[in-house]
Amino acid sequence: MITIRNEEQSDFRKVEEVTRRAFWNLYVPGASEHFLVHTMRSHKDYVRSLAFVIEKDHEVVGSIHFTDAWVVTPSGEEIPVLHLGPVSIAPELHRQGLGRMLITHAMEHAKMLKHRYRAIILGGFTYHYYPYGFVGTKNYNISMPDGKFYTGIMILPLYDGALNGVTGKIKFSDALYPDESGLNAYDATFPPMEKLVLPCQKDFERACADVDES
Ligand SMILES: CC(C)(COP(=O)(O)OP(=O)(O)OC[C@H]1O[C@@H](n2cnc3c(N)ncnc32)[C@H](O)[C@@H]1OP(=O)(O)O)[C@@H](O)C(=O)NCCC(=O)NCCS
Repeated sequence: MITIRNEEQSDFRKVEEVTRRAFWNLYVPGASEHFLVHTMRSHKDYVRSLAFVIEKDHEVVGSIHFTDAWVVTPSGEEIPVLHLGPVSIAPELHRQGLGRMLITHAMEHAKMLKHRYRAIILGGFTYHYYPYGFVGTKNYNISMPDGKFYTGIMILPLYDGALNGVTGKIKFSDALYPDESGLNAYDATFPPMEKLVLPCQKDFERACADVDES
């Protein structure tokens, strides 16, 4: 039986355990996303109402998290958008449709906040997010803070016309950049896992650096 519900405090540790396992050695040797989830929850830009867990047979097997972000227009106006991530599903359950259920659920709830946010932005592999209608931010002339457009930075308007006339640079919340000096000590509270250099990490490096030439 699959259930999706808002994350509660009693889920925090389990969510961090699953997040750690899902990201471990995937993008870098080890992972920091579980620490990110752990720290971001107490940040003012964390969007608690959009924190969801997915349960399989009453056990938490995935979660999704959002923070405030902005598109800063050339005139300096800050247009509020949502940043999606991290999202993860326990690795042994990948490609069984759970991620789709969780992301779709969260997106439906995000749309209910359209009075507040214009769009969802995120960074990741296009094959994970194109199926939901995300497109490269270059389509809207919205760049990263460095002024460049990357294929891995995607956006989805929350309603028709939400991004009409909106161009500029993305500003992420500093909730996404925690002081990682506490990461190792925090990570040591989880069962030991070996940090490995794996070929898939190169794919991520390439995806992050891939400038959108379209
Ligand atoms: C990303 C993640 C949450 C997706 O969850 P999932 O349950 O495996 O995804 P689903 O089975 O619902 O897949 C939905 C669709 O996404 C796409 N997709 C998902 N994983 C994919 C992969 N490895 N390669 C290509 N397409 C993929 C496919 O279109 C898939 O539909 P299909 O299986 O019918 O072809 C999960 O893979 C995960 O936890 N990954 C590790 C953490 C991570 O990378 N998070 C995202 C970055 S923040």
